[in-house]
Amino acid sequence: MCGIIGCTGRDDAVDVVLHGLATLEYRGYDSAGLALVSGPQAAPELRVVKRAGKLASLQQAVEGQALPGRSGIGHTRWATHGAPTDRNAHPHVSGDGRLAVVHNGIIENHEALRSELVAAGVELASETDTELVAHLVAAERDALAGDGQAATTGSALAEALRRTVRRLEGQYALAVLDVHEPETIVAARYGAPLILGHDDDVSWLASDIAGLIAHTRDVEVLLDRQLAVLTPGGIAVTDLDGEPTEGLRYKVDWDVDAAEKQGYPHFMLKEIYEQPQALTDTLLGRLGEDGLLSLDEQRLAEGELRRIDKVYVVACGTSYHAGMVGRYAIEHWARLGVEVEIASEFRYRDPILNPHTLVVAISQSGETTDTIAAAAHARDQRAPVLAITNVVGSTLARQSDGVLYTRAGPEIGVAATKTFLTQVVATAVLALFLAQERRTLLPEEIGDAFARLEALGPLLEQVLAHDDRIAELAHHLSGADYFMFIARHAGLPIALEGALKLKEISYLHAEGFPAGEMKHGPIALIDDGGPVIAVATRSHVRAKLLSNLAEVRARGAVVVALATEGDPEIHAAADHVIGLPDVHELLAPILAVVPLQLLAYHVAVALGRDVDQPRNLAKTVTVE
Ligand code: AGP
Repeated sequence: MCGIIGCTGRDDAVDVVLHGLATLEYRGYDSAGLALVSGPQAAPELRVVKRAGKLASLQQAVEGQALPGRSGIGHTRWATHGAPTDRNAHPHVSGDGRLAVVHNGIIENHEALRSELVAAGVELASETDTELVAHLVAAERDALAGDGQAATTGSALAEALRRTVRRLEGQYALAVLDVHEPETIVAARYGAPLILGHDDDVSWLASDIAGLIAHTRDVEVLLDRQLAVLTPGGIAVTDLDGEPTEGLRYKVDWDVDAAEKQGYPHFMLKEIYEQPQALTDTLLGRLGEDGLLSLDEQRLAEGELRRIDKVYVVACGTSYHAGMVGRYAIEHWARLGVEVEIASEFRYRDPILNPHTLVVAISQSGETTDTIAAAAHARDQRAPVLAITNVVGSTLARQSDGVLYTRAGPEIGVAATKTFLTQVVATAVLALFLAQERRTLLPEEIGDAFARLEALGPLLEQVLAHDDRIAELAHHLSGADYFMFIARHAGLPIALEGALKLKEISYLHAEGFPAGEMKHGPIALIDDGGPVIAVATRSHVRAKLLSNLAEVRARGAVVVALATEGDPEIHAAADHVIGLPDVHELLAPILAVVPLQLLAYHVAVALGRDVDQPRNLAKTVTVE
């Protein structure tokens, strides 16, 4: 939520900040802004340009302006405190107009800080919590100058920020630029992501790797309660006492193409088409030559997983649906009871957890506040936490006892597609891994199931070949104002995911239901011509589902069925059939989700929606 970019040491700072904002816009698009230290060395000045609306408004505002400068910070906002207006857009500036701050997160004690500043005579220019930070840092910087105190790291700005963040409650990723130290950017983090980029004679920071990858692959994840001082000569990281320390430094292994559209009209479509490769990458090297499965990171004690007697899966949104799919595999293969919980609910419950409860936290970004808090809630009760995430070094990955990376590459479209599919694949791998640890499957059964997973790559290509047909169907159905998605068993999470995908990018009302529940209420919604999308692939409950389809059809629904190719009965039960390759029923969801992603995509395009940046949403939800 919100994207931050910063760079010092480039003569074209304004251009690189704008470019960085373009790569981060998917994190929030209510407003955008930048600040630069401009002007002659002898008399530098702070230049700030910010606009409500998408980045295009800022680009327009900047066009034609001479904005020289070697250091700059930028921000793309998902509004929390204060409406998405020019005034509330970041950067926010101190009263003397010489210091600018960009922020991702929420300062929870903002009311108290606001009252204090107002009482001290500070005039506030916005309704945001961030502006308070600008005034506080400037006041600390002035106090340090007044006291004639030498700053611990040589940067008074760093010491001023250190003093300020000690007073903040809540979450923050902050970057501060000050005319007094024209080539320095100071940054701090607690609970919101911030990545530093090392480069020759230039230093970078961004909310995520997509903002840096065009410039450097040498990155360092700034950790909670750390502060970084960026100058063209390098980056110094300290703790809040000013003691030198380090973040998590590593080389990024994907390149800039992965974060570009490469000829596709939208990132979402590109990412849907990347799924066969993403699946292959997620499985690569998991099964060792000894026939044993392993996790990417494993900090659990020997035998700990063998003693697990219960699993909770915690996640939000699409990742929650992936967890729901995973439940079927874990129960079936590893013979463990599984509860799947919405993280924002789980974190405030009092679940029965102990060292024998495995908590699986699923998050594409690894930065979703509620999922991180749910995992922490589990750890507080000594339950081991295993993360399934796409982001190496993310908060969730670092705070877990074991990690399975989904290796889907960067996902820029706000609607999760390839990361969902790879999360489901990862839950299947986890189910097999737990089966291996608990010896509920024979090694050859694990090998066989793993080979079936690997075989899905080419089958996904076959499913993608239905794209034109689905586009036609989407065009035909896009006039409907209400869609129902129904399914049973492992197909149910796919129905829920199909409905979520459609509503988030087309803004149409869509709901998913267990098909067996229809008679208990939802069937009242059916009227003539209303589309009902059914996940009806081969399974032990397919016959039951066919009866449910007959019931909705008899009441006028137009039924679109995803069915196993060659199913003779489905054509009598549905108006439109999309055939999918025949696979094990626990793996069928991995194929079935693709036509629903394409359907949502094409309906949204037909309605002229902003597919990659749907209204009111942001890619990474770092607030509650
Ligand atoms: C789905 O398309 C959304 N982007 C959203 O539901 C997302 O899955 C959710 O916010 C969780 O994000 P995470 O996987 O990064 O934790």
